[in-house]
Amino acid sequence: MLKDWSDVYRIGIEEIDRQHQDFFMASHRLYQTILDGQGQQGVSESIEFLRGYAENHFSAEEGLMRAHAYPDLSDHVRQHVSFMRRLGKLEHDLRTFGPSRDLAERALELTQDWLIEHIADEDVLYALHVKSVTPDAAQPGSAASS
Ligand SMILES: [Fe+2]
Repeated sequence: MLKDWSDVYRIGIEEIDRQHQDFFMASHRLYQTILDGQGQQGVSESIEFLRGYAENHFSAEEGLMRAHAYPDLSDHVRQHVSFMRRLGKLEHDLRTFGPSRDLAERALELTQDWLIEHIADEDVLYALHVKSVTPDAAQPGSAASS
């Protein structure tokens, strides 16, 4: 089910919150592209866009955690790696079986629902850590510069 972005998903680090919101939109675009029957090309472009976005976003998060010596970095990185692996599997299935409602729902579950859960279960934890070490981390621009 498509969900609206909500401020409850914010972790209080402005740059990361903006990225999460864009990730959410890329997820919806992928879902819509699969449903719209825009063919293999459109689906591949959407999934490539999401993959690139996820890679950049994950590396921004990992850089932030590293810069603040987050103790659970390796567990968190494992979650990112597992997401990329599942995205690869979805892409493979879309190529093999072609777009369908089932695969659209799976794409939404993997991207939108995963992100919501990942934010609530994992990202909030590193955000708390970052903010406890660097109280001004929530300020615009500080995520990249710290
Ligand atoms: Fe994360």
